[in-house]
Amino acid sequence: MNEEAIIQVKDLVKVYRGGVKAVDKVSFDVKKGEIFGFLGPNGAGKTTTILMLITLLRPTSGRAMVCGLDAAAKPDDVRVRIGYVSQDIAVDETLTGRQNLSLQGRFYHLDRETIAKRTQEVLEMVDLTDRAESLVSTYSGGMRKRLDIAEGLIHRPSVLFLDEPTLGLDIQTRRRIWEYIRGLRDRDGVTVFMTTHYMDEADQLCDRIGIIDHGEIVAIGTPAELKTSIGGDLLLLVVEGRPADEATPQAEEFAAFLRGLPGVNKVSPTADGRWLLVVAGGEVTAPRVLASVTEKGLTVQSLEMKRPTLDDVFLHYTGRALRQDEGGGDFQRQRMGLRRARA
Ligand SMILES: Nc1ncnc2c1ncn2[C@@H]1O[C@H](COP(=O)(O)OP(=O)(O)O)[C@@H](O)[C@H]1O
Ligand SMILES: [Mg+2]
Repeated sequence: MNEEAIIQVKDLVKVYRGGVKAVDKVSFDVKKGEIFGFLGPNGAGKTTTILMLITLLRPTSGRAMVCGLDAAAKPDDVRVRIGYVSQDIAVDETLTGRQNLSLQGRFYHLDRETIAKRTQEVLEMVDLTDRAESLVSTYSGGMRKRLDIAEGLIHRPSVLFLDEPTLGLDIQTRRRIWEYIRGLRDRDGVTVFMTTHYMDEADQLCDRIGIIDHGEIVAIGTPAELKTSIGGDLLLLVVEGRPADEATPQAEEFAAFLRGLPGVNKVSPTADGRWLLVVAGGEVTAPRVLASVTEKGLTVQSLEMKRPTLDDVFLHYTGRALRQDEGGGDFQRQRMGLRRARA
């Protein structure tokens, strides 16, 4: 395996009691100093994978190595080297920001002097210095999340695990959190392993991405590699009298016709009845498609060319679109988080 790899996962499996196979033979490496994104819909197995990496859950089989140590065999040695920020906000509302951090420092058995120094350091990292003496109950959602991240950093971990760090936050706050995460990588050399079900987040923030679906990795690479792996540009085509949403003999005949055109690698229907074509060299193929369809005596109502997005990558590998609000699990989790914070 790669020497530079700070996380090495090999054939990792987790079957929960009751038989749910949440993680199914997952393998991947994370390099030192990168932001690695674990992307997938709700229920895909992201949190389960993280819990095994951070030693809070025992794998059914396979191996999770962190900083060269087996997470199942050396949990204490792994724990001192990592930070973990769960998907629910875990800070104590009745304390100030600084008090929360001191508490966390004591949890890691740091001495008083070190705690004072590190607290100052991490407060600055997440831009909360001027609110350090305020009660957390007066903090916004974004500030709480930043404090949460600061807590994960107090013992200077080599690897920081973030489970859905921007879940439920507004886009502005999400962008600020992205900035802090980038800073951790660039300034402090921290390796970041994060899960998300936001495509844009993975695309803009992560150096490499693993896409997980139903407990299995379906694709892995840099955002650019993943987009290229689809095999070309995308054309979205609407033709009069040939909607792509019904499996009629006419639609099937037309799909076969499109597939036979030079440069066309893949043809599938979109959810809104358009034809989605994966083509080599969109600039050349698009006019050709237009000409061929017209020659057939049909009318092209619209033809749009676009570079693949991560949504397209996901659709390509899983055969379905990922809706950000899929499953409703977030709502449940947010409510649970709220309840815990109030308690
Ligand atoms: N403690 C548990 N016991 C049984 N099943 C679980 C448990 N935790 C999660 N699951 C199931 O395992 C699957 C993966 O869950 P999870 O890892 O939380 O996914 P994600 O974080 O990607 O949303 C889901 O089907 C979920 O319902
Ligand atoms: Mg999760």
